[in-house]
Parts: sequence; structure tokens; C-alpha cells
Amino acid sequence: PEPSAMQIVSSQCVKAFVPRRRDAHKGDCGKVSIVGGDYGMAGAVRLAAEGCLRSGAGLVTVISRPEHQLIVSATRPELMFWGCELVDMEVYLKLGWASALVIGPGLGTGDWGYNLLKAVDLSDKPCVIDADGLNQLKGMPMRRKDWVLTPHPGEAARLLGVSIEEVEQDRFKAIELLHEEYGGVIVLKGAGTLIFNGESLTVAPVGNPGLASGGCGDVLAGVIGGLMAQGYTGMEAACLGVVIHGEAADLAAKSGERGMLASDLMPYIRQLVN
Ligand code: APR
Ligand code: MG
Repeated sequence: PEPSAMQIVSSQCVKAFVPRRRDAHKGDCGKVSIVGGDYGMAGAVRLAAEGCLRSGAGLVTVISRPEHQLIVSATRPELMFWGCELVDMEVYLKLGWASALVIGPGLGTGDWGYNLLKAVDLSDKPCVIDADGLNQLKGMPMRRKDWVLTPHPGEAARLLGVSIEEVEQDRFKAIELLHEEYGGVIVLKGAGTLIFNGESLTVAPVGNPGLASGGCGDVLAGVIGGLMAQGYTGMEAACLGVVIHGEAADLAAKSGERGMLASDLMPYIRQLVN
């Protein structure tokens, strides 16, 4: 990318939030479906879904294995839930309800996840693809303008068919190659997250090593999806989402980086979108 098209984002940009309209109702605030959570990974969709609610989305539905209904609904009753055993026509109707989709947290690498990813692609909704959604994407002939891909260096390496060391040696080159191959907005995560949409490159020097614990990336995917459902473009949602997530981590780290949990970000995310 040309240096002229490069910007550095900081906490300043979260001041751009205007208060909700006084006559707002939940239907105006964006509807999101979060797809994932194969056996043993219900927590991933649960965390992404709460990140999404805390970013201000009006209605959030989790689409996951039927066995996960109780844990998701009982631990966050504000979430709706749809249990999907077989990926059939009904799933298209469910996906059609949403204004934006997030797929990948805990999706798994089996047929269930693969078929759900194909359904999300066919649904033609703006979407965030994270985690196993990205692992499944490798080898699928998919390329879209209106999606946001959020790989960590390991997922980026898999998508490009190179080693993690190669990605980390030149993160600028890696993000350009990812965009060339997959289109849309690429968020290359890790300390000093990069965001690239083919035109402008954003560097986000936010966050801290407290984020290096399971589930923090899932929360980010939910936040970005929530912002897209509220009307932000993929690029805006990606930049804002990364800053909100990183700033929330910096606020949470006041009680210590070590031992910080993905759930600890939630109250700060709420603070930052207001
Ligand atoms: N400094 C700043 N930010 C950091 C740092 C750091 N040192 N370490 C991590 N982060 C941020 C990343 O930029 C990213 O936003 O925390 C988030 C971590 O996201 P992931 O790497 O996706 O981790 P997570 O999703 O919690 O892992 C759970 O999902 O992606 C899969 O393979 C992954 O099985 C794992 C699961
Ligand atoms: Mg992850």
C-alpha cells in the first residue's frame, strides 16, 4: 500500500459515536446472527454474541448446535437461539432475517461448519468471517467485497499457504496478498493489528498482551458484526471495532494484564460505544 493511504487509528475515533436516536427501537439498531459453536466450543459463539450485543446491536441470534441452547440462553437470556442440526433450506430463512452475519467462532473444521459457511455465502449478507470460518474458507472459491475477514497470524498463514513466520516477517505483504486473493476488508490481528480494504491501510496500535487469552478474538468478531448491522461499512466497522476492542482491553488491564478474560472486556465495550 502507498504510504499516503496509510492511517493510524487511536482512541480518538471512538468519540465519533453519536447518541442513539430518542425514538430508536430495537429493529433499527441492527439484527445479527452469530453462526458457529460446534461440539465443545459453545463458549466461542456465546462470547461473540455478547460482544455483538455490547456494541449496540438491537437483536442477536446465535445459530449453533441444538445442544448448546441451554448454556447460551441461560448465561445470556438477551440472546435468541436457533438450533441447527442439519444445514437445510430452513437455515437460509434464518440467515435472511439478519442485517449482518458473523460466522466462525468455534465453527469447527467438519462438514457441519463447511455447509454453514456455504449457506452464509449464498445468503449474500454483509458478514464477518473469523476463526474456523477462515480455516474452512481455504480452498473454497469465494471472494466478496462486503465481507470482513479477521485472521490471526496462524489463520492468515493457512489462508495463504505459507508459514506463520513468513506472515510475521512482513505483515504488510501478507495483508496485501490476503486482500488480493479473498477481497473485502482484511483485519490481520496481533499486536499492531492491520486493516486493509485494497485502498487504505490502517494501523491500530491498541490493546495489550492481556488479550492473549482464549475468546478475545471471538469478542472482536462480534463487535465488528454488530457495528456493520448498525450501518457502518465493513472498513468503518473493522477500524472502529479493533479500536473499541483494544481500548476496552487497555481499560480492563488496569486490574492486570495477566489473568484478564474475554468477558472482562464487555463493560468497557459498552462504555466506548456511548
Ligand atoms: N497485543 C495486542 N493485541 C493482542 C495481543 C497483544 N499482545 N495478543 C492478542 N491480541 C488481540 C488480537 O489482535 C486479537 O484481536 O487479541 C485478539 C486475539 O484473537 P485470536 O488470536 O483470534 O484468539 P481467540 O479467538 O481468542 O482464540 C480462540 O479461535 O482463532 C481461533 O485458533 C484460535 O482456537 C483459537 C480460538
Ligand atoms: Mg480467534
